[in-house]
Parts: sequence; C-alpha cells; structure tokens
Amino acid sequence: MTTLTIRRPDDWHVHFRDGAVLEAVLPHTSKDFGRAIVMPNLVPPVVTTADAEAYRRRILSALPDGHDFRPLMTLYLTETTDADDVEKGFRDGLISAVKLYPAGATTNSQSGVRDVARVYPVLERMAEIGLPLCVHGEVTDPDIDIFDREAVFIERVLAPVRQRFPALRIVMEHVTTKDGVDYVRSQAENTAATITVHHLIINRNAILAGGIRPHYYCLPVAKRESHRLALVEAATSGDARFFLGTDSAPHPTHLKEAACGCAGVFSSINAMACLAEVFEAAGAMDRLEGFTSLNGPAFYRMEPNTAEVTLVRRPEPVAYPATVPFDGGAITVFDPIFPIHWECVPAR
Ligand code: NCD
Ligand code: ZN
Ligand code: ZN
Repeated sequence: MTTLTIRRPDDWHVHFRDGAVLEAVLPHTSKDFGRAIVMPNLVPPVVTTADAEAYRRRILSALPDGHDFRPLMTLYLTETTDADDVEKGFRDGLISAVKLYPAGATTNSQSGVRDVARVYPVLERMAEIGLPLCVHGEVTDPDIDIFDREAVFIERVLAPVRQRFPALRIVMEHVTTKDGVDYVRSQAENTAATITVHHLIINRNAILAGGIRPHYYCLPVAKRESHRLALVEAATSGDARFFLGTDSAPHPTHLKEAACGCAGVFSSINAMACLAEVFEAAGAMDRLEGFTSLNGPAFYRMEPNTAEVTLVRRPEPVAYPATVPFDGGAITVFDPIFPIHWECVPAR
C-alpha cells in the first residue's frame, strides 16, 4: 500500500500554549487536523468560560489563512470551579470538555485538584449535561514510584469517581500502561482513552538507555516495552474507546536540555506520518482512520470531518524539520528513531 485516503483526523489532546509559541506550533496542527481538544494548562490556567472564549479568539487569530481548523476548548478544573459557569459554556457550544489535573502531577498543574471530593458537585453537573471529563491519570504522592503512578491513580481516584458518577463521560488522557488499557476495556463505552504517538513508539529505554535523552521525557513517563505493546494493540484493535490525542506539548529546547528538564514531547508536525508507520508495521492500515478520525468524534458526539487527507508512502524517507523556531528559541520535534516514509497531504 502506498497511499491511503481517510477522513481528516482530529487531535483529541494538544497543547498550543500562547503568544509566540502558539503562533509557531498552531499551523502544524491545523495543516493536518480538522479539530483539536486544546488543553487549558496555560499560566495562569484557562479556568472560566470567559478565559476560554478569550483563548479561543487568540487561537483563531494565530490561524494561517486558508487553514480549516476548529479549536475545541476545555476548562481547567479547580476546587473552586463554578458548575453554573461550566454548564453555560457547554450550552453555548464553547466548552467541549473539562480537564482534571491532580495538583502537581504535570506541567502547570499547581492550581489543579488536591482532593477530588471537592469537585464532586461539578462532576455531578457534568454527568447530568453530558460534558466529558478529561483526566491526567497520575497520583502525585511522593511515596508512589513514578512508573506506578498511572496504575495507582486508576485504583485510588478513577475507579471511585467512575462508581460514584456512572453516567459521567470520562477520557483517560495519554494512557501509558496495560493497566490503563485493561481498565478502559473493563468499562462501558462512556470511558475512553486517548493514546499519544510517542507512547506507541518509544519505551523507557529511549529516555534512559545509553545516555539521558530529555526530548523523550514526558508525563506520564513512557513505561517498559510490554506496556507499549499493549498500547499498540489497543490503538490498532478497532475498539472505538481508543483514539488519538497527540499530547503534543512544546517546550523551548533549552528548558528540556537542562538539569531539571520540562516534561513534554512536541509531535504535531509528523504525528500522522509516524502513526502511518506504526499502523503499517502492525498490519492495521485499515484501522488508522478509526483511530484518528472516527472514534474521537463518536465519543465527543460530533460528526466526523467531511474533508479527507491522503497518506502517501514515499520511496525515500521524508525529511521532517528537527526543530521549529519561535520568537524566543526553538522547539525540538519528536524523532521516532526510525526513518519516516509517510507524508500526510490534503486529499485531491
Ligand atoms: C504536558 C505539558 O507540557 O503541558 N506535558 C507532558 O509531559 N505531557 C502536560 C500533560 O499533558 O500532562
Ligand atoms: Zn497530562
Ligand atoms: Zn497533555
């Protein structure tokens, strides 16, 4: 197979940041993707519908002419979030999801939730109105090993929330473990998970073996190979509860190549091409469209995009940029380690 035409994909988890970084990274998403769930972990975070409306306008004004792209806005859940404001944003069509960050779990999560019971009134309202909750599924207790934080989160936080609010639509964001995959599979279809491009490709050796490679460091941290294989199996299985969320998370290169480097992998430029490699290697090219373009809209109760893209396999590897400049530095692009032969172009 050397070409594959599919519905234009969506990215169900992306970080655009703001200002100069927003301007530099947005075109790489809007080139290939029709919509994206835009994460709210700015500094300060996007907490109210007014914040989200203002951020949406900044995104739209950074959008290159001719790009057909719709940002799907999210709110950053705090212990003082107002359920009425959330409901209003949802009813106005502005808010597509609310994001739960356990306080201290990841980049810019200081204002996140310390005690999940304090946000139960908001979760209850969301369950009533059908607004999805996206969760960064890691506990933050210092006595829990970083490689176990996702599995422990499922047991201590996710399962009790799920039990208390059976109607709540939940997305376990950037699932990284077999435990996460198994948990989603054990639940009804209102529990789903996004999977990133990089977690389908790297395991923890990429970060640590033969030298420390900060550009592979993200949260949740990549796990051992058996977990990566479980993710590939889930993504290529055709199970509609799993869909693409790149978690493309740009940080300036100099802040990643540091004694205490930031967490995040920037992959929006070559995400579709890398996925084509993964699905081709798994003999599952016929399931790529479901993962990137159909399962996500079905979960979010939206129509799939009507436009199409074509993935083209070139005989020689395609040269993707290694870095993306912005006014203030550069951002390093995800390197999947293998050569990339695929390219994503608009369908003719
Ligand atoms: C994300 C970021 O940089 O905002 N980083 C990451 O490693 N994934 C935050 C997140 O999605 O957890
Ligand atoms: Zn996260
Ligand atoms: Zn993220």
